Amino acid sequence: MHDTLLLFGATGDLSQRYLFPSLVHLWRDRLLPPAFRIVAVGRQELSDDDFRAWLRERMAGEVADDQTVVEELLGKITYVSVDLRDETAISTALASYADRPSVSYLATPPDLFVPCAKGLKAAGLLEGESRLVLEKPIGRDLASAREINAALKACLDESRIFRIDHYLGKAAVQNLLALRLGNTLLEAVWEHRWIESVDIFVGETAGVDGREGYYANYGALRDMVQNHMLQLLALIAMEPPSVLDADSIRDEKRKVLRALRPMSNDDVASRTVRGRYAAGVVEGRAVKGFVHESTVETFVAVETYIDNWRWAGVPFRLVTGKRLAERATEVVVSFRPTSHWLFERPRRGRERPNRLRMRLQPDETIELGLMGSLAAPEWGAMELKPMSLDLSMSGSPQRRIAYERLIVDVLRGNQTLFVRDDEVEAAWHWIDSIETAWTQTGQPALEYPAGSWGPSEAERYLPPTNGYRPGNSNGGGHA
Ligand code: BG6
Repeated sequence: MHDTLLLFGATGDLSQRYLFPSLVHLWRDRLLPPAFRIVAVGRQELSDDDFRAWLRERMAGEVADDQTVVEELLGKITYVSVDLRDETAISTALASYADRPSVSYLATPPDLFVPCAKGLKAAGLLEGESRLVLEKPIGRDLASAREINAALKACLDESRIFRIDHYLGKAAVQNLLALRLGNTLLEAVWEHRWIESVDIFVGETAGVDGREGYYANYGALRDMVQNHMLQLLALIAMEPPSVLDADSIRDEKRKVLRALRPMSNDDVASRTVRGRYAAGVVEGRAVKGFVHESTVETFVAVETYIDNWRWAGVPFRLVTGKRLAERATEVVVSFRPTSHWLFERPRRGRERPNRLRMRLQPDETIELGLMGSLAAPEWGAMELKPMSLDLSMSGSPQRRIAYERLIVDVLRGNQTLFVRDDEVEAAWHWIDSIETAWTQTGQPALEYPAGSWGPSEAERYLPPTNGYRPGNSNGGGHA
């Protein structure tokens, strides 16, 4: 197994909040090789001890583990300071680690991917079995993504490139795949004849604070929709692969992404909403608005279609925003109402259609909403009540940070939950159609108060509530 991890961007937010805590858990559970070593690479001038002290303090709030485990992991870290834009400096600083197959993890902005990869290549760190891991976003449009992908390919083979989308590491996402592909019941009705709509919603209470520079150049569409949300959409909508290997799944996802209907100027006006949060109150705390000279959006709602046989005419609504009323991520698949309704109460089946609701956050659950009746003599007529079938894996192993699963997969060389170059490019192709139309039509980002559910113009895009959003102050969402 690869036992050297070179972590670029080691002092960044992602490393501190997710990657190091994941490594602590994996070390605790003996899921890392015994001779594991970490080379933390960053710009800041720090000694090994300075870096360890800094990380120890930062992790205090993130990992509740036994301090001895944390100390053991800290003891495996060497810190290397280097300018990540300078490929020659990178190569010189890291060449001594090329003695064993390694994993280089670029937790950096995309403009550093190419210099880092070239430096690693020159140092001999991308040879043989060595692997390269990249964080999203891969570029900021199709042209820049193509450039990055081509430059990476000149350094190593696609089979050794791991593009992370941490949503694919979430347990509920894998459970959705298992439920869909492991059961006749769902797969048999998984198409336009039985499904009326699909909602993918990612609401965050967090703001842009501390990441203004990055965010102002990306916005919600590029930051969330291009990757996490389109990956969820692709897994939901893809054809079942003939075998469960990485390329078969990725072939199917790519086909879906290529079938997304590009948006024209007219489409964006009628089927997208952009928003940007102003000051407000989130979880009882007064917060500032996002003030920046860029016109970038912090909220986006899009209704799109997949032009293929399976999904003809089914709207897929994607909504995401920062500083919303609650942190909630869910996918809701709404089935069509029964063809003929027999019951007096409720009056119409349309009011409570069957729904498969997958929650990714804050808890990971999957529920199937059905109608049932408890016979009660005093009712006279049969009254139907919504019931829900819990399809979550109760008694499942302990909850893990999504990155834990993905790091283990990289070490084992399993690419199933990683994104291939052509998928990234297909996703950008569609995103570019929206960005271009927004620019050409000058579509504004509408203000919404922090702590709401986004601009009121976006209400029709919100997922069906079924009482799942108790704090829904706007009363938004279709029932
Ligand atoms: C990241 C985005 O990829 O995902 C962030 O850059 C966002 O803006 C984050 O906050 C959300 O991840 P999660 O797992 O908290 O939903």
